[in-house]
Amino acid sequence: MTPHIDAKNDEIANIVIMPGDPNRAELIAEKFLDEYQVVSDVRGMKTYTGTYKGQKITVMPSGMGIPSMGIYSYELFKFYNVEYIIKVGTCGTYTNTLDLGDIILVDEVYSESTYALVQDKVEGNIVKANSSLNDIISNKAKELNMKMTKGNIHCSDVFYEEDETSKDKLLAQYGCLACEMESYSLLHNARKFGKKATEILTVTDNLVTGERADSSFRQNKVNDMIKLALESTLNL
Ligand code: HPA
Repeated sequence: MTPHIDAKNDEIANIVIMPGDPNRAELIAEKFLDEYQVVSDVRGMKTYTGTYKGQKITVMPSGMGIPSMGIYSYELFKFYNVEYIIKVGTCGTYTNTLDLGDIILVDEVYSESTYALVQDKVEGNIVKANSSLNDIISNKAKELNMKMTKGNIHCSDVFYEEDETSKDKLLAQYGCLACEMESYSLLHNARKFGKKATEILTVTDNLVTGERADSSFRQNKVNDMIKLALESTLNL
């Protein structure tokens, strides 16, 4: 047990699917897992372990932001010996070449965050998703006939970004197609502990036009992405 997870060691699977939202974690467990049970409930972050087509899977919410994801992914990798974390989330796109509902598989992440520097004295602003995990997910997307774009993203500490020019700079300089708020600590912790992690995102906001998906559109599209993540675990 850790300060933030009170499951027993064997109650957390090798493979963890992490949405940000605790309600989404519950929906994933209800809709997709067999014989699942709640294995941790610290701070209301209900964590579910069950099976998907026979594969043992844990679904745990990360909460919002780099620090929250940093705590949970650190504890899962270090104390629960988790091998794989796939984050499933939503994002706001920086480009009109993507539409609401499109799926992004994260390649590299740029962030201004000091998380890696403060935790481990690691300098730099870029972390990478695991390439073998990404290959499995890319192949599965093809198999399922799902359109997916692999690319770089921006992991920000700020949802209410007031500087109108920053997204254009991030797109031009680092190829950031979209913005989310958790991947930097996840991918840094995976690098630190020699584990495998990546993130799949559904575009729910267009930060160029200001268009935002409504809740039923979000839920339907997010389910496609979750199915892709779960089906990919069958090849691990
Ligand atoms: N900004 C940051 N993170 C997000 C957004 C956004 O607009 N939409 C979904 N996650």
